Amino acid sequence: MSLKILQFGTTGQLGLELLRQAPAHDVTVTALGRADADLADPAAAAEAVRRHRPGLVVIAAAHTAVDQAESERDLAFTVNAESPGAIAAAAAEVGAAVINVSTDYVFDGAGGAPYREDAATNPLNVYGASKLAGERAVAAANPRALSIRTSWVVSPHGKNFIKTMLRVAAAGNPLKVVDDQSGRPTSAADLAGFILAIAPRLAAAPAGDPAFGVVHFANSGEVTWRGFAQAIFAEALGESAPEVAPTTTAEYVTPARRPLRATMDLGRLEAVYGVRPRPWRDALREILAELKAAL
Ligand SMILES: NC(=O)c1ccc[n+]([C@@H]2O[C@H](COP(=O)([O-])OP(=O)(O)OC[C@H]3O[C@@H](n4cnc5c(N)ncnc54)[C@H](OP(=O)(O)O)[C@@H]3O)[C@@H](O)[C@H]2O)c1
Repeated sequence: MSLKILQFGTTGQLGLELLRQAPAHDVTVTALGRADADLADPAAAAEAVRRHRPGLVVIAAAHTAVDQAESERDLAFTVNAESPGAIAAAAAEVGAAVINVSTDYVFDGAGGAPYREDAATNPLNVYGASKLAGERAVAAANPRALSIRTSWVVSPHGKNFIKTMLRVAAAGNPLKVVDDQSGRPTSAADLAGFILAIAPRLAAAPAGDPAFGVVHFANSGEVTWRGFAQAIFAEALGESAPEVAPTTTAEYVTPARRPLRATMDLGRLEAVYGVRPRPWRDALREILAELKAAL
């Protein structure tokens, strides 16, 4: 019998990729959007788990607006921590494992990168703090929970850096991009593929299995935001790529502080799951090809 997955989040980058790839796996996915289960209401989210009785829950919804979260602290903590905790507790009641998705922004990026899963956390912003609280809440509520930390998520859908850069360049405006923050861009499609590939193992694994806990997943390689912008233009526009001037985090003021180098170590991913993600630039090419095909 195929594995019953209950997925929270249908419209985001990861949610869409999960839905797109699920038919290629031996799973039956019930996906709940905001109208079916608003994560601002932890009790309702938990009730959905009790009602559907899945073998695995995947939480692909989150309050991801990093700057907005600074002025919506309570909402960010409810959506990113309380609801995942309530979902994980309800999952434990019905015997389901949980996959929660977290972020490299749990680290302050001030030194020590690439960070291993057991490295000290110190989020610089409300979003990172709420996601760290979410990791702790799911682990406390369900011994069969995995939090996957990821970074700089990109895809052909929704809001992300690739689409923003292409839009700004098309408008012909001068470009200035931060050159002192570096990280690992990550394809939502690659992350979704990983989640679906490990789903049967997680659904079957007992508490205490190394498959649970925290794991880092990102495409390999590392780049600054400016370097990423330059790569996007080189791949998409070739000879007519616009100039990208450098700027600094100190100059480019945003409501939320961001880590300079929160790059995550990927050793545990390979050790526990045998997975070595492809370089971010290969994923970028694939996303650009899909965007071009859709024109
Ligand atoms: N994007 C990144 O760069 C990044 C980096 C590191 C980690 N992550 C993590 O990766 C995961 C997936 O991110 P993503 O890029 O796919 O996010 P995304 O594209 O911003 O999508 C967010 C999703 O969450 C849903 N959502 C937001 N608030 C909700 C609420 N109160 N109730 C129900 N649904 C709600 C949104 O639904 P609506 O369409 O209704 O708003 C949307 O489906 C998240 O856990 C995120 O924290 C992302």
